[in-house]
Amino acid sequence: MSAPKPRLEIRNLTRRFEGKTVVDDVSLSILPGHVTCLLGPSGCGKSTTLRMIAGVDTQDEGEIYLDGALISDNQHHIPPEQRSIGLMFQDFALFPHLSVAENVAFGLNGPKAEQRKRVETLLGRVGLMHHIDAFPHELSGGEQQRVALARALAPKPRVMLMDEPFSGLDNRLRDGIRDETLALLKEEGTSVLLVTHEPEEAMRMADEIALMRGGKIVQRGAPYNIYNAPVDRAAVSFFSDINVLEGEVRGALTETPFGQFLAPGVPDGGRVDIVFRPQHVGIDFDRGGRGPLPTAAQGTPARGIVERARFMGSESLVEFRMDYNNEVLKATVPNVFLPKPGTPLWLTVRRDRCFVFPQKKA
Ligand SMILES: Nc1ncnc2c1ncn2[C@@H]1O[C@H](COP(=O)(O)OP(=O)(O)OP(=O)(O)O)[C@@H](O)[C@H]1O
Ligand SMILES: [Mg+2]
Repeated sequence: MSAPKPRLEIRNLTRRFEGKTVVDDVSLSILPGHVTCLLGPSGCGKSTTLRMIAGVDTQDEGEIYLDGALISDNQHHIPPEQRSIGLMFQDFALFPHLSVAENVAFGLNGPKAEQRKRVETLLGRVGLMHHIDAFPHELSGGEQQRVALARALAPKPRVMLMDEPFSGLDNRLRDGIRDETLALLKEEGTSVLLVTHEPEEAMRMADEIALMRGGKIVQRGAPYNIYNAPVDRAAVSFFSDINVLEGEVRGALTETPFGQFLAPGVPDGGRVDIVFRPQHVGIDFDRGGRGPLPTAAQGTPARGIVERARFMGSESLVEFRMDYNNEVLKATVPNVFLPKPGTPLWLTVRRDRCFVFPQKKA
């Protein structure tokens, strides 16, 4: 069997504003029915990328293909309304003077009876049949959001572009609508490119995450891989708090207060960052202060003094001032663990969860 062909493919897309490169040689493809999240900090070029794919902005270089057919390059631009691309942006405005049914039917052509059927199917699917004749101002924010989704999906777009579509909703409403939206998109078999700057949202929604920074895609992969095999220190810290140990390399090893770490490929004298997440710091209760006894999995324990402990709901965050450098190290511990400030404890780190990166030259 041949590999499935991408529904949407962008090649070497570049966009400059006033001499500044805002989207820099971005390539990306999405398979039919897949959800890709474009994830990155504010200003990294996410919306600009989406606008070029939608056709409301034009790239300086690069090509866009839909099901293998060129829709935009240096010479040709198929206008937005002919691209079979649905849009849902943060400020999705429903038409205030049209009913819910008329809003959803807005982009539809063909026999009225068929339009009506499609409208009813979608409104039933998002649980809003009882509001079919209501007007937008009679609906809650979450309900309006669902109408907007139904409207965007009504013409069966081959690709949906969504730019932070959930950011206007409050937290608890958001989780539900997010899951519901995802289920509907999957049912419809739509390919989705969803922009977000929230890692949890990307992990919840995406088959694949494309991590963007400074106009470039720095890493692509399944959420699990991006989280567990990040390309650099910034990619780790984008998803969670981090702790960093610095070390100098000798014979592909570096010594730290938590024991030795491998630093393959780094020349002698090179400096590395050893990066790990607070949830991979362990508290070594067994030793009860009796001191270091190295193990293969956890290396050597190091001692810290509790500075602050806070309960966060499902876990506790404890900050330690470490003996070895007098700096703060963060640990998260499941459930309630609130040791008193001033308590000395021995800590270990999960060696298999540490990332060793050569320090970038300034
Ligand atoms: N029309 C424009 N003219 C000039 N500069 C622009 C224009 N559109 C975007 N930019 C600049 O391009 C950069 C990227 O903008 P973009 O809107 O793509 O970021 P973003 O990743 O969507 O950020 P956010 O998460 O804040 O929405 C920003 O520095 C922005 O100021
Ligand atoms: Mg944006």
